[in-house]
Amino acid sequence: MRTSSLYLLACAETVLSASLGESINFEKRQLGGLIGGLTNAGYGKVADPPGHAPRKEELKSPMSIPGVTIKRVKIRAGPYKVPDMGTKSVTGHSGMLESYYDPTVQKPCDGDCSILQQVGGLEYTNGTNANIDTGMWLHHMVHFNTGARRWDPVGRDWTICLPHLGFGSSPSRSERYFVTGNERTPFHYYREADKTAYHLDPADKFTYLVELMNMNMAPQTVYVTMTYDIIEGALPTGWKEIKTVFLDADSCRTSEVRPPKEKGSFDISSKPWKPSVEGKIIDAIGHLHDGGVGLDIKATTSGPFCSFDAKYSEKPEYVFRGMDMKGDKTAKDHISSMAGCSTPQDYKVPMMSKSQSWTIKGSYDYDKKEGNLEGGKQSEVMAIAILLVAVPPGPLKPV
Ligand SMILES: *[C@@H]1O[C@H](CO)[C@@H](O)[C@H](O)[C@H]1NC(C)=O
Repeated sequence: MRTSSLYLLACAETVLSASLGESINFEKRQLGGLIGGLTNAGYGKVADPPGHAPRKEELKSPMSIPGVTIKRVKIRAGPYKVPDMGTKSVTGHSGMLESYYDPTVQKPCDGDCSILQQVGGLEYTNGTNANIDTGMWLHHMVHFNTGARRWDPVGRDWTICLPHLGFGSSPSRSERYFVTGNERTPFHYYREADKTAYHLDPADKFTYLVELMNMNMAPQTVYVTMTYDIIEGALPTGWKEIKTVFLDADSCRTSEVRPPKEKGSFDISSKPWKPSVEGKIIDAIGHLHDGGVGLDIKATTSGPFCSFDAKYSEKPEYVFRGMDMKGDKTAKDHISSMAGCSTPQDYKVPMMSKSQSWTIKGSYDYDKKEGNLEGGKQSEVMAIAILLVAVPPGPLKPV
């Protein structure tokens, strides 16, 4: 695995540089992240400790739809051992499990099922919530699904899409269908008026890319949790499926952008994207790093779709109370939700169509909101927006 990741990365750089005529200047960190097996040696997935919380749990779903049975299933993946804050990785990052791939992640069902909604989380192995108030942080995770019907609507436009390549896959057979940061925004695949769900096939395979932070002086072992509300069996008659569109200011690379400024405000934007899927937009999700204030999504070069505002420390678990080390300074207040674009009433463009061009712009302002310093410098930032689009059931072709 280690050798092959390294080999793939070397190939990726060569192919990218040759085919795009660009020189790819990976930062040490990013390079290291992509060869996660090497940089995370001694950490990552470990055995379940005695007395651990169940790997799979059935809970009561809060959802109800007349005529269908809805199950809530919680899956705990890992557990992942994260280095302590005093341990620096070979790439110079402290207390970080860096771009770590988990190729064997349990699904919420073994056969067919349709996912109505999904939310990620982080827990200690005893099942207690893990967040910034106890020095643990779900920096981000990307949830891939690989299978015969899977392709990534944005990734397919790139000669090389590093997030897929990192586990030996490609956007033509896997898709990034869910992603979460520490704000833990749920994805609503189901909308009552449209009867939509993300349908899983029995042969689909799950892979996670996880990045976890530990601000404690001892290593910590945690599960990444995924809570699903599902309907077992075939997609109900007359329903539509969901395709996830992953817009990113650093598309198909590491998603991590070096902040152009250490103080004050700046924006980071994505390149325009022409849709390869068409349909009604069912849900929108935005992700920024600390220091971020807003995220604008535009459906054409001039028309707005909607804007997110970053909300900080709405719950005490998002307030950091720990100690800082040398040049590493963790912000006190962290993003706890993204507001303003969370319901279809907010969407100024109801449909995605191939005549459009989509861009996103993440706005940061360190004078208003504190970022996280590493080695005395602002750490990398992100701007990501996800759109969930209703598509016809069955195999889907790009438009
Ligand atoms: C669960 O584990 C965490 C981390 O080790 C610990 O801080 C917490 O007290 C434990 N909670 C319970 C209820 O045992």
